[in-house]
Amino acid sequence: KKKMTISDFKKFKQEGKKFSFVTAYDYTTASIVNDSEVEIILVGDSLGMIMLGYKGTESVTMDDMVHHIRPVVKGAPDTWIIGDMPFGSYNVSDEEAVRNANRLIKETNCDCIKLEGGIEMLSRIQAIAKAGINVMGHIGLTPQTASALGGFKVQGGTPESAKKLIEDAIALEKAGCFAIVLECVPSVVGKAVTEAVSVPILGIGAGLHVDCQVLVTQDMLGMYGDFKPKFVKQYAQLRKVMVDALNEFHQETLDGQFPTPEYCFNKEVDIPKLY
Ligand code: KIV
Ligand code: NA
Repeated sequence: KKKMTISDFKKFKQEGKKFSFVTAYDYTTASIVNDSEVEIILVGDSLGMIMLGYKGTESVTMDDMVHHIRPVVKGAPDTWIIGDMPFGSYNVSDEEAVRNANRLIKETNCDCIKLEGGIEMLSRIQAIAKAGINVMGHIGLTPQTASALGGFKVQGGTPESAKKLIEDAIALEKAGCFAIVLECVPSVVGKAVTEAVSVPILGIGAGLHVDCQVLVTQDMLGMYGDFKPKFVKQYAQLRKVMVDALNEFHQETLDGQFPTPEYCFNKEVDIPKLY
């Protein structure tokens, strides 16, 4: 496959060409995604739960993000890579947001950054875009501030909150976002937000009418055991495949069936008699 360019995002939307994106947090997973047709990888701060076992994303640091984005960039050279800005890296000032966005780009060589929030984040987005960095927005359910939204719940479920999401998307496009993630909203809201802007809407739990579908890789491959949101379709049951394989190895170890000669170094050596 050929790596997407920044101009492809608007072009794909104009042409009505759908595309897809998933997460990765490590070299091996990134290289697997790179072998697929999926165009985009997000190194999301969801790594807090999926890789680090936290309850939420709030504790994820800039160092964590750099540590995980680097190997993904190495493993997926033909895939557009998004580096997620973690909680606390852009809520102090425009200057600090630019400094942290610079750091993600300089230290990892990812293709863009993503940050959460609507109209309240406009000056941050403008400042980062003005610094020459591609900025992706993220509205709807914003996990970093989910507790303020009343937990992990569907957003935009009333006419007023749907209006706010449409206004947010229009404002984010104006401020310089080249694409916007829209998370966990009714399908009709996904459709309205998608029609309201000329940049692509990347939907996760946002229905069929968005420009691009997003899922967390460990969710869609059935690897993550703890929790499955309604919008996750499991395209494989890798957790079961992996546990079964581990048990087979364990049993063959107990039974002396592994390793057979095929997996041994079979060169004959005269062993000196020392015992
Ligand atoms: O961190 C993440 O995985 C995300 C996606 C849910 C869009 O932000
Ligand atoms: Na995220």
